[in-house]
Amino acid sequence: MFTGIKHTHVLAVSIFLMIYLIKTFLLLTGKKNALDKFSRKTRVLEIIFSSLFVLSGIYLALNSGLIRSGYWFWFKIFLVALSIPIGILAYKNKKKLIGLLVLVIYIYVFGVSETHSIRFNKDDIYGSPIEINDNAGPIEHGQAIYNKYCSLCHGQQGDAQLEAASDLTQSDLTAEETLLIISEGRKSMKAFKERLTLEEMKLVRDYVMSLHTN
Ligand code: HEC
Repeated sequence: MFTGIKHTHVLAVSIFLMIYLIKTFLLLTGKKNALDKFSRKTRVLEIIFSSLFVLSGIYLALNSGLIRSGYWFWFKIFLVALSIPIGILAYKNKKKLIGLLVLVIYIYVFGVSETHSIRFNKDDIYGSPIEINDNAGPIEHGQAIYNKYCSLCHGQQGDAQLEAASDLTQSDLTAEETLLIISEGRKSMKAFKERLTLEEMKLVRDYVMSLHTN
């Protein structure tokens, strides 16, 4: 469900962007009649796809773990909320520069959404480096890695299921299978092998295995 709605969201946004791109091209090249005709013809499509992207966006936001990772999400919402009315006015009044500016903002917002970062840095969602107490045992060390890299989706207790994540307290995977998933990733969970060392992956693996309640 989550993944399907995510694809719908990206598709609706892409179609919306495509329509906007064509309109901007017609606006910038001064083809006023063609622009008016195209706008009229795509009006219904635009209403359908913009409603679809807003509705799917609301569903995703309610089920997302990643929007809690920083202000990127609120910045994106702010830019979209600002750009939509400005874009409409720019086209009504045939303001080339404003139309172009709105297009640039939309493309920037697309990048922010894909990377969950206002500077396109995929590591931003994980925040500051972990601090580990020198006296920490392996489970505390595993927990520190977990809190930083895993709790966004799996929650502090392992059962949050945000971003359609599995409930780790109900997992019946072996230690080996668990390590493989951490290393290679699964669905929206990215592979961790490039971010964590094998030793760190084993520490966090042991920690998540300690969350099993079955
Ligand atoms: C972006 C969200 C996200 C993050 C961050 C994330 N996971 Fe996951 N995790 C998922 C999803 C989605 C699945 C797969 C659900 C499915 O198979 O339907 C999953 C599945 C798993 C599973 C398999 C459980 C089972 O019984 O099938 C394990 C183990 C796991 N994650 C551990 C971790 C660990 C450890 C970390 C941190 C190093 C982590 N995850 C970070 C989203 C995430």
